[in-house]
Amino acid sequence: MRWPSFVGLGLLLGCGLVGWAQPAPVDGISETALIENQKRLKWLRSEIARHDDLYFKKATPEISDAAYDALKRELNALEKASAKDSATSSESVSTGDDRSGNFATHRHGEPMLGLDKAYAEAELRAFLNRVSRSVGSDDSVFVVEPKFDGIAISITYEQGRLVRAATRGNGREGDDVTENALTIRNMPRRLSYNGASDTKSKPPARVELRGEVYIDYAEFARINSEREEAGLALFANPRNLAAGTLKQKDPADVAARGLKVVFYGYGLWAPGDGDAAPSSQQALNAWLRERDLPRVDRYDLEKGASAVLAAVDRWREELKKLPFPTDGVVVKLDSRAQWLRLGNSAEAPRGAIAYKFPPERVSTRVVGITLQVGRSGVITPVAELEPVELAGSKISRATLHNAADLSRRDVRVGDYVFVEKAGEIIPSISGVDLDRRTSEVKAFVFPSECPSCASELQTSKSGATVYCPSKRCPAQIQRKIEHFVAPAAVGIKGLGPVAIATLVRENKISNVADLYRLTAKDLVDAGVRSEAVAKRLLTEIERSKESDLARFILGLGIPQVGRANAEKLADRFGSLKAMSKATDEQLVDFSPVTRDALLAFLAEDENQRMFSAFESVGVNPQQPPMAAVKGPLTGKTVVLTGTLRGMTRAEATRRLTIAGARVVDSVNSRTDLLVAGDDAGSKLAEANAGGIQVIDENRLMKLLEN
Ligand code: IVH
Repeated sequence: MRWPSFVGLGLLLGCGLVGWAQPAPVDGISETALIENQKRLKWLRSEIARHDDLYFKKATPEISDAAYDALKRELNALEKASAKDSATSSESVSTGDDRSGNFATHRHGEPMLGLDKAYAEAELRAFLNRVSRSVGSDDSVFVVEPKFDGIAISITYEQGRLVRAATRGNGREGDDVTENALTIRNMPRRLSYNGASDTKSKPPARVELRGEVYIDYAEFARINSEREEAGLALFANPRNLAAGTLKQKDPADVAARGLKVVFYGYGLWAPGDGDAAPSSQQALNAWLRERDLPRVDRYDLEKGASAVLAAVDRWREELKKLPFPTDGVVVKLDSRAQWLRLGNSAEAPRGAIAYKFPPERVSTRVVGITLQVGRSGVITPVAELEPVELAGSKISRATLHNAADLSRRDVRVGDYVFVEKAGEIIPSISGVDLDRRTSEVKAFVFPSECPSCASELQTSKSGATVYCPSKRCPAQIQRKIEHFVAPAAVGIKGLGPVAIATLVRENKISNVADLYRLTAKDLVDAGVRSEAVAKRLLTEIERSKESDLARFILGLGIPQVGRANAEKLADRFGSLKAMSKATDEQLVDFSPVTRDALLAFLAEDENQRMFSAFESVGVNPQQPPMAAVKGPLTGKTVVLTGTLRGMTRAEATRRLTIAGARVVDSVNSRTDLLVAGDDAGSKLAEANAGGIQVIDENRLMKLLEN
C-alpha cells in the first residue's frame, strides 16, 4: 500500500510545516481517502507553483530545498497512486521556470536538464547500481564534485566569441541575460587558444558551455554588511542573491555585485574545424584548464560504488571549507559515451545525480515571540528559543521574518521547532514539529500596538510587513542613533545602547543632531559612570564633527543609502545642507529606487528639522564637491553603450564620474559624448543621427589617463 510509505517519507524529509493526517484505508482506497487525495493533490500543485514563483521569479524562497523536494516527491507519488487507484489522468507539474518576463527569450541548442536528487545513502547506492547495470560493468568511473549553489547558466560561444548567456528557463528556453553576464568579472568573453596556426586548439565553431553563476561567501558578507548600513533587509543566502542579481534589469546593478561563473559541462558542441567535444568529464576539465577558463578545480575520480560512496562521505566535511556556497555533491559518469548511452529521463540525465547532505538541524522550544522595531519602523517578529547548539554555535533566537510569514507558518509560543543552518548563514526555522504541539499551545496573536510607543501598527501595501508609523517612536529613534554612532558611520566610542535608550526615554535626544547638544550632566543622568567618563564622551562627540561627509550621510540611515551611495552623494553635493535640498535632476545617475528613497527622506518635515538642527549646533561637514574638481570631462554628460573589454561598466562609470562627467542611461539632445564598446546598437545609431561625439574604448582610456 502506498500511503504509509510516502506519508512517512514526507515527515522524514522535514515536511514539518504540513499538518496532515490521512484516515487509514480499510480495504484498498476508501471513498474519503480518494477525496482527500484529490484535495491534497490540488493543494500540492498550488503550493509547488507558489514556491516555484518565490524561488525562480522572486528569488525569495520560504522553504528549504529539502522541504520543496519533499513536496514534489509527494506529488509524484500521489499522482502515480491516483492514476492507478482512480481513472483520473496524472497531470504532472512542470519542473519550474525561472523566466522573469523581463528579458528576451533564448532557445537553447540542447535542452538544459536538471539533476535527479538523492538525500540518503541508500538512494545513492540505488543510483550507482542502476548505472552499473545499464552500463554492464561494475567499474565505471565517476566524477564526484561540489554542487555549486547559484543559478544555472548556458554561455554560447561562436568561433570562440561569447555571443549569448541564457538562464535555464523551462529547460528549452531561458532568459537572455547576455548584457548582465558580461559584467561578471571572470566571465570569459573569448575562448582563447594558442594562435590560429595551431589547428588542434581552435575553438569549436559553436558551443554551449554550461555552468553556474554564484556569489562567494566573502562577497555575500560584503554586500550584506553594506545593506545593514543602509538599513535594508539582509539577503538570506548567496544562492538567491546570485539568482536575483543575474536577473536585474540594469547591468550596472549586476556589475556592483561580484558574481562569478564556473563551468562544469556543455550542451551543444559543434566543432566545425575546431576542437572536438571532450569525450569525458576529465577531458572537459583539461580543455577548460588549458584555456584557463573557470572550472571546478577540485573533484574526485572514483571507480566503483564503494569508492564513490567513500568520496561522497569525505566531501561532507570538505564542502564546509570551500569559499563558495554548495548544496551537496554531484556524482556523474566520467565517460561521455556511457552518459549518452544511458540517456535522459523526462527532466534529468540518467548518468548523474545530485546528493544533498541533510542540513544541520536541531529541534528546540519557542519560549517567546518578541517584536523588534527597526530603524525605519518595520517590525520583525523574533522567536526566542531555548538555547541549543547548532553547527558550532549557540542559538537562542531566530528571525520569523515578518508578520505574514509568521502567520502562514503558524509558529506558536510553546511549540517545538526545527532550526536549520544549511547554506544559510543566519539560522532559520524550517518547520514546526506538530507532533509535539500540546493543547495548551495557543495561536500567536500579533500585537496591534508598537511594543515601544504603543502606536497602532500598520500593514504595508504588499501585506508582508507590519510597521510602526510613528516618527517619534523611541525604539526607532534609538536604532537611528545606534546606527549614527557606529564605527562605519561617524563612530562615537563609548555611547552604548543602554545610555542611548535612557537619553531617548528622558527626551534628551529625538534625532541624531541632538547628540551635539548633550551636557555632561545629561550623560551622568543617563547612567554614564562618572563625570570624567561623561567628559571623555563629550570629547568623542565633539571629535566626531570632523568625520567625513560620507560618514555623516551614511549615519543618517537613509533607506537605500549604504557606503557606496553615501560617498557618491558626498561627492555630488559637498555638504549636508546642499544635499538636504537635492532635486530629482541632480540624482539622475542614481538608481530609481535610491532616488525615490532619498527624495522621500528629504520630504519628511522631521528630517528637514534634523538638518536645521545640525546647522544650529554647528555641525557642518563639507568637502569640495566632485563637480567643482576640474577634470577632463567636467560637466559633460556621457552615455556608455556596448561591451567594454578592459573594464566593467560600473568601473567605467566610476572613473568617468571621478573625471567630472555625469553618466546617464539614454542618449538625448543633452548628451555630450557616447562611449561605444563592442556590438553597440541603437544608442550608437541615435548618437550618430544626433551628431553627438562618439569615442571607442581606447579613446576613453586615453581620456581617463589624462
Ligand atoms: S552537472 C544535466 N555539476 O545543479 C545537468 N551541475 O540541481 C548536468 N549544478 O541544473 C549538471 N553544480 O545548475 C553539474 N558541479 C556541478 C553542478 C551542477 C551545480 C547545478 C546545475 C543543475 C542543478 C541541478
